[in-house]
Amino acid sequence: MAYKITLIPGDGIGPEVTRAAVRILEATGIKFEWESFQAGAEAFEKYHEYIPKELTESIERTRVGLKGPVTTPIGGGFASINVALRKQFELYANFRPIRNLPHIPTRYPDVDLIIVRENTESLYSGIEHEVVPGVVESIKIITAKASTRIARFAFEYARKNKRKKIHAIHKANIMKLSDGLFLRCCRDVAKEYPEITYGEHIVDNTCMQLVMNPYQYDTLVMENLYGDIISDLCAAFVGGLGLVPSANLGESCAIFEAVHGSAPDIAGKDTANPTAVIRCSLLMLRHLGEHDAANRIRHALEKVYRTREKLTRDVGGKAGTSEFADSVIEVMESSATVETTAEISRA
Ligand code: NAI
Repeated sequence: MAYKITLIPGDGIGPEVTRAAVRILEATGIKFEWESFQAGAEAFEKYHEYIPKELTESIERTRVGLKGPVTTPIGGGFASINVALRKQFELYANFRPIRNLPHIPTRYPDVDLIIVRENTESLYSGIEHEVVPGVVESIKIITAKASTRIARFAFEYARKNKRKKIHAIHKANIMKLSDGLFLRCCRDVAKEYPEITYGEHIVDNTCMQLVMNPYQYDTLVMENLYGDIISDLCAAFVGGLGLVPSANLGESCAIFEAVHGSAPDIAGKDTANPTAVIRCSLLMLRHLGEHDAANRIRHALEKVYRTREKLTRDVGGKAGTSEFADSVIEVMESSATVETTAEISRA
């Protein structure tokens, strides 16, 4: 049986990093059928749609996507494809684990933070208009339904994974109604999970507290914009944006994509770090129940980092994106040979 997966290579560094991840996934021996589609400006040129109908139909069919970053024009142009896909498929939970990879020197070793970001509303509602010339309104939507749903996701994750503490991150001192509602929903859900310590921190203070001492936090739940900003901040704890994966999860679909964007400054140079998308592939494999394959990739990835010979530039090496992927595959293949030899000698 082959897993049918919708692949969105994206643009900028997207095609380079997703190609690396796809090669590594295929090296596991698991069969995949990739349904590959462009999105954003490239798709518009071909299909006159930013999200082609064929792409939407593919996700409806496969229910699983692996996605590279897609550029969103700044201050004009089309609305974010990323936000649109998350809304269209009700991928309400954005799950971002922030963990060190071994042997990358960082200011903080052994960071283990989970960021749970609400993915469908807040200032990402896209409702903006010019009231009169020179005055613009952007609407922040917060609903009890989405806030309760994301709080429950965070608490359920914490319960299943034996995590001890959840902080709701907010700005309810200023946005008393919207963030106030978000907090009330989190408090209500927290009552159902007495074994998990619940706390609340204001978002600006959280940034300072994180930089001073990230170990004081465990799982953080927050609305969309704060989640976007705080996860980039936390990526820096573990070596940068090239390393942090994320999963967009809904009731019936999941799309896995790195936290980073299309990195136009390094696009097309074969220098981007594909680790974030490779780690997304691990989340995808676990979502599919393919834990052995996920573990094999994880061990190979860790070994490549341990030997430090083929690292990309962002983490102090000189290797290119494809060279990095080659070395992960080499380790996977040599470990498979060692395992097979061991099996034969046991037999
Ligand atoms: P970015 O994440 O693309 O880049 C920020 C910095 O991190 C750059 O210096 C870049 O070179 C570096 N970087 C990012 N990924 C890297 C990797 N894998 N390896 C090595 N270095 C890496 O953020 P930026 O510049 O704010 O956004 C660029 C575009 O990407 C924008 O159009 C934005 O809207 C879009 N974007 C798309 C996302 C998605 O599709 N999920 C997420 C975030 C941004």
